Amino acid sequence: MTTRSSLITHRSSPQFNALPPLSLYIHIPWCVRKCPYCDFNSHEARGELPEDEYVSALLLDLEAALPRVWGRPVLTVFIGGGTPSLISVRALDALLAGVRARLPLAADAEITLEANPGTVEAEKFAGFRAAGVNRLSLGIQSFNDRHLKALGRIHDAAEARRAAELALRSFDNVNLDLMYALPGQTPDEAAADIAAAVAYAPQHLSVYHLTLEPNTYFHRYPPALPDDDTAAEMQDALEAQLAGAAYEHYETSAFARAGRRSKHNLNYWMFGDYLGIGAGAHSKISFKNNILRESRNRQPKTYLAQAAVGAVIPETRDVTHAELPGEFMMNALRMNQGFDLSLFAARTGLELTRILPALDQAETRGLLTRDHQRAAPTLLGRRFLNDLMQLFLA
Ligand SMILES: C[S@@+](CC[C@H](N)C(=O)[O-])C[C@H]1O[C@@H](n2cnc3c(N)ncnc32)[C@H](O)[C@@H]1O
Ligand code: SF4
Repeated sequence: MTTRSSLITHRSSPQFNALPPLSLYIHIPWCVRKCPYCDFNSHEARGELPEDEYVSALLLDLEAALPRVWGRPVLTVFIGGGTPSLISVRALDALLAGVRARLPLAADAEITLEANPGTVEAEKFAGFRAAGVNRLSLGIQSFNDRHLKALGRIHDAAEARRAAELALRSFDNVNLDLMYALPGQTPDEAAADIAAAVAYAPQHLSVYHLTLEPNTYFHRYPPALPDDDTAAEMQDALEAQLAGAAYEHYETSAFARAGRRSKHNLNYWMFGDYLGIGAGAHSKISFKNNILRESRNRQPKTYLAQAAVGAVIPETRDVTHAELPGEFMMNALRMNQGFDLSLFAARTGLELTRILPALDQAETRGLLTRDHQRAAPTLLGRRFLNDLMQLFLA
């Protein structure tokens, strides 16, 4: 039998025997209106979207990045935002054709598009499917008009319902995003939102606790939110409700029917690689002896201007050895079933000894369980995830 000490090897710098799986993230930075709680890189679209120009910029960006991921198959693609469903089916088709011509997409690649439930967008769902998108992630947030209004959403409950219906008619792999602990929301209302979502039988649900993020309108003018105990009650109830409806709770906010976990997000949480193209997009790319992070300019105008003169230039930096354990654990601890301990060395290129003291401490505090093969957060660890992650930060 393997003992903990037999897992210890001695190596001082990262070294990868095999590179991690690779995903592609494509950022579309525009929205009809900025929501007051949102800190994503999204910008109000004024007038018509420069979509053709932007698709050309994305493909130029991709082409310049190709040498950094040369020959590696891409297992998943995620087109996120912003509101990617604002772009036309024609532009999306051109984008995906351009991606396929430049990168070896796996035959069964998961290709997700984030969509908002506006009427105009819902009418495009079938076209998006025909263009090659095979998973739709729909930002419902709530099925309650009062709460949608409080969130500053541009759609109402009827549009949310119609969009969910249309999404499930065109796609056999649909995620619905919901948020809870909304301004003025009661536990019964939160449960009613979950029940309404489950009634559509989506393959996946992402249920987020509304947080007040710095640099948002809600942060500056905080609305009256349910207190911590009420929010915790809502969380316990929705987890039980979703377990009862055959959704596996596999990550902090993610629930999936059997075989329908998000492959793209799992690759992030398992500290896989991703190339991010588009305004404000980030990449993490492993090489034989180092891991590189890239970020592109957040402003769509600047990004387009860079492309217009022929070069989207990301800022780049190597992840330091000291940062790697924390970065790995910030992702891996989000998964309810935890991770195989061998994944730490496989993804960071470092020895497991680096995190043994923190693993021991987390176990002693009841935040983590571990055997010779796996480590996973306990229920207490999941409820106090920030405290648990803190133990691994440099
Ligand atoms: C990239 S965002 C937006 C996707 C899409 N534009 C929309 O709004 O429907 C993805 C998801 O993050 C969640 N989200 C955004 N801001 C949040 C916040 N402050 N707290 C909790 N969840 C948030 C929402 O559920 C949202 O659907
Ligand atoms: S629509 Fe989505 S991405 Fe755009 S501002 Fe609202 S939450 Fe953010």
